[in-house]
Amino acid sequence: MSDGILLPEIPRGTLLPVRQRLDRCVVARPQILSVLEGETDAIALQASLACLLWHVFIQSNWCGFYRRVADHELAVGPYQGGMGCLRIPFSRGVCGAAARENKMQLVPDVHQFPGHIACDDATRSECVVPLRDHTGQVRGVLDLDSPHLAGFDPDEAAFCEQLLQEIFSRPVRW
Ligand code: SME
Repeated sequence: MSDGILLPEIPRGTLLPVRQRLDRCVVARPQILSVLEGETDAIALQASLACLLWHVFIQSNWCGFYRRVADHELAVGPYQGGMGCLRIPFSRGVCGAAARENKMQLVPDVHQFPGHIACDDATRSECVVPLRDHTGQVRGVLDLDSPHLAGFDPDEAAFCEQLLQEIFSRPVRW
């Protein structure tokens, strides 16, 4: 049992085979939805999701949110992991690209991504998913980083995108 979620305990940093990682997503999904049911405060939701997804994605060294604080600027939000950049303009990094293009970014090797922001030199791959409100407007991004090359599978990215869609498809207080 990890905090708040019932999943097999695996050491942080382990890159499990994709099948096992997707199994963790399947097991976690109803637990996450149940824990968050009825909550309407965006920060409470983001903070709890950062904690819960940190336990799902044990291959990650950073898991959390950047919030849209201006037309073309993100500021760090609730997260787990090492120190992150405080501000990210839409023009920079994987997070900036996800927010700017309103499109999920799956980057198997960050060294091949022009403009990648190296908050942590250990990070080798990333998965960044736009956080949209119930009207479809981009309110921020979910950023998952891993010290492994290709640390995230497209199905893990799709899991995150669907989970966010489901949780934020009703009006919440931003
Ligand atoms: N990796 C991000 C920056 C944020 S941190 O690494 C936590 C990017 O290039 O967008």
